[in-house]
Amino acid sequence: MEVKDVVSKMTLQEKAALLSGKDFWHTEGTERLGVPEFMMCDGPNGLRKQDGEADHLGLNSSIKTVCYPTASTVASSFDVDMARRLGQTLGKECQRENVSMLLGPGLNMKRSPICGRNFEYYSEDPYLAGKIAAAYVEGIQSEGVAACPKHFAANNQEYRRMSGNSVVDERTLHEIYLTAFEIMVKDSHPKSIMCAYNQLNGTYLSDNKYMLTDVLRDKWGFDGFVVTDWGAGKDAKKGVEAGLDLVMPGPRKDHEDAIVAAVESGELEESKVDEAVTHILNALNWTLENKKNVGPSTEATRAEDYAFAKELAEGGAILLKNDNKALPLKDDRKILFVGEFAKTPRYQGSGSSHINSAFVSNAYDSAIALGKDISFAMGYDTKCKDVKDSYILREEAVEAATEADEIVVFAGLPASYESEGFDRSDINLPPEQDKLIDELSHLGKKTVVVMHNGSPVAMPWIDSVDAVLDMQLAGDAVGDATVALLWGDVNPSGKLSESYPFKLSDNPSFLNFPGDGGNPVYAEGVYIGYRYYEKKRLPVLFAFGHGLSYTEFEYSNITVDKDNATDEDTIEVSVDVWNVGRYKGKEVVQLYVSPENSKISRPYKELKGFTKVELDSGEKKTVTFKLDSRAFAYYETRIHDFYVESGDYNIMIGASTIDIRQTVKIHVESSIELPMTFDRFTPIEDILDTKKGQMVLGPVLQKIGEGMENQEDDGSMGEGGAEMMTKMFMEMPIINLASFGILTTEQVDGILSQLNN
Ligand code: BGC
Repeated sequence: MEVKDVVSKMTLQEKAALLSGKDFWHTEGTERLGVPEFMMCDGPNGLRKQDGEADHLGLNSSIKTVCYPTASTVASSFDVDMARRLGQTLGKECQRENVSMLLGPGLNMKRSPICGRNFEYYSEDPYLAGKIAAAYVEGIQSEGVAACPKHFAANNQEYRRMSGNSVVDERTLHEIYLTAFEIMVKDSHPKSIMCAYNQLNGTYLSDNKYMLTDVLRDKWGFDGFVVTDWGAGKDAKKGVEAGLDLVMPGPRKDHEDAIVAAVESGELEESKVDEAVTHILNALNWTLENKKNVGPSTEATRAEDYAFAKELAEGGAILLKNDNKALPLKDDRKILFVGEFAKTPRYQGSGSSHINSAFVSNAYDSAIALGKDISFAMGYDTKCKDVKDSYILREEAVEAATEADEIVVFAGLPASYESEGFDRSDINLPPEQDKLIDELSHLGKKTVVVMHNGSPVAMPWIDSVDAVLDMQLAGDAVGDATVALLWGDVNPSGKLSESYPFKLSDNPSFLNFPGDGGNPVYAEGVYIGYRYYEKKRLPVLFAFGHGLSYTEFEYSNITVDKDNATDEDTIEVSVDVWNVGRYKGKEVVQLYVSPENSKISRPYKELKGFTKVELDSGEKKTVTFKLDSRAFAYYETRIHDFYVESGDYNIMIGASTIDIRQTVKIHVESSIELPMTFDRFTPIEDILDTKKGQMVLGPVLQKIGEGMENQEDDGSMGEGGAEMMTKMFMEMPIINLASFGILTTEQVDGILSQLNN
């Protein structure tokens, strides 16, 4: 299709009709001009395609398919190749099922551990989320299917998700809440993006020109189309003017009519409508050109997809604790599996990402199939509300444990705890599970806990168990993957993509989540997740980036190609990683940048690189990172852009935020002088901080200093009086040179006019 030509032949009514959906999952076509409709479906951890008639609410059952691990697990793999393969696998399935666009990935920041949808999001760290999302998008689109990353942006809670107003300052917005989207847009060029329901600083995202046009298109170069979250369309005219292209779902005759009326009355320029239509048709055209017309999904493709789902679940699982090498389990031991989740695992979240799984493995059946010597006790029942019944189940489990050598408890959050549409109220497991683990772990037998959770949970029993394997929400292959990890057929290699605090009130957003009336003020600023815990020196249960292995890795020989650089250089950092243990394994090598003596408030350190490397026992490899200026930058509101402050930076490489193994210091010099206007109330030290200030004010102060040289500190201000005077002098507004009679007002104004010219 020649898009330009088609647009020129369309009537205003036809164009307006294209800007809202035909139904729940399709765009409108224009038969007269041969423009077909196209289908989009929910992801991101599987294809949720409704078969038959799509009902208006999208509630009909969807086709049976493979459910992959959810975003938390994908991010915890710290494996961009895996994320890319997930995208490709889903892209292939979309081709088989005639779906042109997949609604995903979700890459909102995990501001609070209790956001109901955290299982569907990647991380509290924008760099990790951005890189994983970019790889996923690349993967889908490499198969000729459009990706639709969501929910753009500052959509970090479910409470009042359709009306809430996220109040976020400019620096925090760009540095934390937009960076993942920015990386993803620039690296992977998504064909579409979904704007969120909520307001940002008083404007709905669907009407937000700053976000949809100034930032997304003009600053980042986005060239796809913007679609609303389902039902997020507000004012038709404002939306189109702001850069919104498609309103979903449809039909929305009101939207169509409002656009026609606005153009006819001269309130909306038709060229804006043409732009929106062009954005949609360009993407449609691309999907048409890339249609593969392969047959539908088969048993064979499903088996292949399941095998990949297992690999991904294994790669994302995190070994949180493993005292005295409690894991892997040995074949000569009698093992008791305890817990409903051993037979009916929790493996995905609820809401629009919910997949109709064709087959889900469970650890009990998987272990039996492999001939393991295991028995089972229920221990708890997530549906049971009766304390007495919970007590009986617990007692039965304790009784069964007397017959076993070792205990593996399968615990986690029930489905009703984690869902789109509402947030959790705390980070606790159901109390009967905490009690069960506590009792079993005091029987004097090795106790291992396997967790199924899409977001952090408190673990009050952590000191009395021997090992914790966190499967998060591991998708259909959860059982097979768990067994492979427990018995050591696969070596765990996941790392936490978010911090696990001891308690909810430790989290920086605690006082402002979900905000009065659902209007959160992001008062913690850039201090989200580990950025806060580190700055506050607040211990956490498990730190960002943490994850153990059955083998051990040593780090050595950190080198940088330049220790004096400018913000225009690329810096190469390398380090040797050596597998000194007995097992083959994968290590996630993490690179953090930590500014020394910054003039502004900055996190202690931030993730700026990571790579997953596989090493045989005894093998050593050199890992190399490339850092550009962004690795050292913060968002400077004076220039509305990222800026590198001149100074020293520590480059830290390690196995988690709290396990840094190698550090090297470099100096980076900025090539930009920040714009500065000076007035009577500008502190002297700020003036002297600029080159111009040093030239103009420097000599004046030197003269004043010389005049004061003979005045002795008479001690009347106590010890430290001289220091106090210097501090006070440097911090006082320049006009105070006149207030204290050191200069005249005219002389101060003269200096200011020189500075400002
Ligand atoms: C969700 C989106 C989803 C859409 C369509 C919305 O409620 O927020 O993530 O893609 O529904 O199901």
